[in-house]
Amino acid sequence: MKLSIIGPGKVGMALAFAVTLRGFARELVLVGRDLDRMHGEALDLAHGESFYPAPVKIRAGEVADTAGSDVIVFCASATQEVEDRLALGPANTRLLEKMLPPLVEASPNALLLMVTNPVDVLTWQALRITGWPASRVFGTGTLLDSMRFRHLLSRELGIYPDDLRAYILGEHGDTQFPAMSMAHAGAERIADTPERRAMFQQAATMGQEIYRRKGHTSYGIAMSASAILESIALDDKRTMPLSVRVDGYEGVSDVCLSLPVVVGRGGIEKVLKPVLNDAEATAFRHSAEVVRRAIGLCRN
Ligand code: LAC
Repeated sequence: MKLSIIGPGKVGMALAFAVTLRGFARELVLVGRDLDRMHGEALDLAHGESFYPAPVKIRAGEVADTAGSDVIVFCASATQEVEDRLALGPANTRLLEKMLPPLVEASPNALLLMVTNPVDVLTWQALRITGWPASRVFGTGTLLDSMRFRHLLSRELGIYPDDLRAYILGEHGDTQFPAMSMAHAGAERIADTPERRAMFQQAATMGQEIYRRKGHTSYGIAMSASAILESIALDDKRTMPLSVRVDGYEGVSDVCLSLPVVVGRGGIEKVLKPVLNDAEATAFRHSAEVVRRAIGLCRN
């Protein structure tokens, strides 16, 4: 797999490191504003080669070097991360408009994984700008929020987090919600209790808390993006909640939000349509309204 990471800042470099440690990529291209720093990062990363599970060619480059990528991962941001993800919409939309067309031309058959915030807004914008099918353009979405929730639930339940089928769906932002009506572990329902609602609140605001404490988030989002890329590389059809274009689900269409999807070599191979209860369906539609309004604010 040839992977190009656009915008190797704190998130992009944590992702590059995660990818080399997992050993599923054969070629990794780092594209950033400061080519000199990118060369430094590529050299530093390449020196761990003896200890990686498989060889990977790592280099810094420009758009031309990304040609023929299997996956383009977009992590660049016009400004530093801020606490309110939606506030970054207009500036990052303009950045996408500038950066995506040459990348698309260099790798016309690639998949595009959006990491930059506000990820749901930008996944929609990336679909518009590239004109690619929805199966090939998607965002990290609420995978990270779901992992944060499972991490907390796992401690309470004493069950491995990846065995907890508990999803946070909707917006990767303030309107996300836990789909508790279908949460289960080992075929047993995970009951909706006030304590678990508190865990959800904690998971949903964890991004802001980490931001306040260390100024950015990096490892959690990098591991989430790496898991998506691994499922593409291995074509193993894992299910995970990702930001995808929603078309006719719970009355929502033409907006990007997280739903559980099947991930493989073709990108989003299937969007699953879980049966939500009334409160969850209302929450999903609220996410759609908020993201659609944010998209509207990105014109010019
Ligand atoms: C977070 C950023 C990626 O939640 O939004 O960590």
